Amino acid sequence: MTRQSRQTVSPARAAAVRLFSVAALAAAGLVAPAAAASAASGAPSAVVLPAANFVSPHGPYSTTSDQCASCHRAHTTKSSALLVDSAPQSKLCFSCHNGLGSTLNVATQYSNPDLPPNDPTTASYYTHDATKPTVHILASSDEFGGVTNRHTECSDCHDPHEGSMVLSTSSPDGTPWTPAGPNTGTSGLAVTNGSGTQAYTFLDGTKQPITAEYQLCLKCHSGYTKLLPKDPAHPSRDSLDAGAEFNPTGTSFHPVEAAGTNASPKMALSLSGASPYKLWNLTTSSTVRCTNCHANGLATGATPAAGDDLAPHASTNRGILLRNYRDRGLKPNGEVYADADFALCYLCHTNEPFATSSTTATNFGGHFKHLNQIATTGSGGLSIDTIGDGQGNAICSECHFRTHSTATTTDQYRGLVAFAPDVEAVNGVLSWTSPGAGSGDTCTLKCHGKTHNALSYP
Ligand code: HEC
Ligand code: HEC
Ligand code: HEC
Ligand code: HEC
Ligand code: HEC
Ligand code: HEC
Ligand code: HEC
Repeated sequence: MTRQSRQTVSPARAAAVRLFSVAALAAAGLVAPAAAASAASGAPSAVVLPAANFVSPHGPYSTTSDQCASCHRAHTTKSSALLVDSAPQSKLCFSCHNGLGSTLNVATQYSNPDLPPNDPTTASYYTHDATKPTVHILASSDEFGGVTNRHTECSDCHDPHEGSMVLSTSSPDGTPWTPAGPNTGTSGLAVTNGSGTQAYTFLDGTKQPITAEYQLCLKCHSGYTKLLPKDPAHPSRDSLDAGAEFNPTGTSFHPVEAAGTNASPKMALSLSGASPYKLWNLTTSSTVRCTNCHANGLATGATPAAGDDLAPHASTNRGILLRNYRDRGLKPNGEVYADADFALCYLCHTNEPFATSSTTATNFGGHFKHLNQIATTGSGGLSIDTIGDGQGNAICSECHFRTHSTATTTDQYRGLVAFAPDVEAVNGVLSWTSPGAGSGDTCTLKCHGKTHNALSYP
């Protein structure tokens, strides 16, 4: 969904927004009954609400009407912060964000019938679940520092007293993307990166506003808080420290906090080339938003710009991904290469080196061969987490185990190269030696039943 700032909406849309809002606000006693009556009559021209009078329940607030009452009650309160509705907060928010009180329908994003059933053990792969009761107090208080208190109420990512539909922006010079209007005023973390170390400062959102989108995400996905315990049987499911992963002093990373380390001409071609899923043409000095990869799944034909409204509420793609990415189930013998398996990558990268034998846009001449040409070599199983598994064509994550970066992997190679647990050592050695992009590389490892012993490739 592409959204505009409230200040720049078309007159027709502005009228529609007001029509819905007037009804909701009237129900909450926020606008005069006359305006509400004309809104209810269904005649948009009768809604005499000059732009200056448009009252969003999220402010700016006037001193004459009790705009606070749509959400707060002093004496009949049902939950913390004197709110009118009982927990979870989403009940209060959905009373308007259901397509009636606001055009921004968030309730349907959570009730999408294509989402997997709300199984508590897997729901978090597909949603930031804001619909179950939590131990939430207030987002402006430091609720996550050093403790296991992982939850997501709406206000953990949105300040209900502030906000706009201003888009996220970044200059093309490696500065990170700003928080989008809907996340204005929310708390987060400022990060000071040392060489392989991170120090965090809590920002309460109002007195100390966040200045980059990732600062919101790191509040709950970095070593600042207590992350989920690791699962020794399934390293591919571990929730790792995104603060460490995106630290720009690392060898190789997706460029969220600063531009990346691979400025090679082939990298530039990988980013500028075409693909069936292509949305964004970036350069080697670009940064990307967490929400360029993690957001509600895209409808066919949708073409948001990189800074557009991309909400990480709920996606039918595991990992709350904008597009599908197959990274855990290996391919059985005979399953052919398909662009759709790696659609997420092709939002930004060309599929050329993988779908065709061309090496114009890659420093690794073996991409096509591994992704597309392994007929039948292995006989192992199909789990990326099991040593010795692998039968047919390879998937990206066997060589690029972590999409975020190599900072938390055993081998910290450049090129985002880190081998998955299914890849075996040969005589105790598992290595990739690479003097420089695309020159003199050798591999020592066993994969899909095939041994490479200091094998060099063009
Ligand atoms: C759209 C609903 C909504 C409206 C309108 C609203 N509030 Fe709130 N308010 C909330 C929610 C939700 C919280 C809890 C925030 C959290 O969980 O961090 C809250 C929290 C507060 C708090 C606790 C301190 C804090 O950290 O935010 C105060 C004080 C407050 N509101 C005052 C007001 C006043 C005064 C108004 C009117 C000028 C107002 N609110 C209007 C939803 C609203
Ligand atoms: C009384 C109705 C009402 C309630 C309750 C409400 N909202 Fe809204 N919200 C609106 C309206 C109206 C807009 C203006 C945008 C539009 O409809 O086009 C809006 C806009 C927003 C936006 C977009 C940014 C902005 O400020 O324009 C966010 C984010 C948002 N609301 C979050 C929340 C959250 C979180 C809650 C619950 C704590 C909540 N809202 C409760 C009516 C409501
Ligand atoms: C207030 C805390 C909080 C904030 C802020 C937050 N998240 Fe989350 N996120 C969670 C929790 C809790 C889960 C459930 C899984 C877990 O406990 O790690 C989750 C799950 C996820 C998942 C799916 C995890 C999986 O295993 O597949 C992704 C991806 C994600 N968040 C990305 C983001 C991004 C991107 C942002 C910033 C826009 C963000 N989160 C902001 C708390 C948060
Ligand atoms: C280039 C795309 C991309 C970007 C940018 C990105 N991620 Fe991810 N992220 C992924 C993929 C792919 C996965 C693996 C999904 C899966 O298999 O569950 C993932 C997994 C996750 C998970 C699940 C747990 C884990 O550690 O694997 C969380 C949480 C997460 N990302 C948060 C973030 C945050 C926070 C940011 C920004 C600071 C971010 N991501 C930026 C692609 C991306
Ligand atoms: C983990 C953080 C997170 C949680 C939890 C969350 N949101 Fe959002 N929300 C975002 C981000 C990020 C955006 C996208 C901002 C952008 O790019 O414009 C967004 C966008 C929105 C918008 C703008 C319209 C849209 O749908 O994209 C509304 C309204 C909104 N959220 C309301 C809510 C409500 C209501 C809840 C609780 C049911 C909620 N959000 C929970 C992070 C979150
Ligand atoms: C068999 C291992 C292997 C697999 C599988 C693999 N890659 Fe790579 N990839 C590499 C190596 C090695 C490099 C580093 C090349 C260099 O710089 O010398 C690389 C580099 C890259 C680069 C950086 C541009 C460049 O060539 O320097 C991109 C982008 C990339 N891979 C994307 C992918 C995607 C997308 C997939 C899945 C569709 C994938 N890779 C699958 C081994 C692999
Ligand atoms: C939102 C855009 C975006 C998406 C989606 C994306 N990438 Fe990238 N990727 C980039 C950018 C920008 C760079 C350049 C970083 C640099 O110059 O160091 C990059 C670099 C890389 C590199 C080389 C890193 C290095 O240090 O040499 C690899 C490998 C890679 N991406 C693989 C993937 C894979 C696999 C996926 C899908 C899971 C993916 N990318 C999805 C934007 C993206």
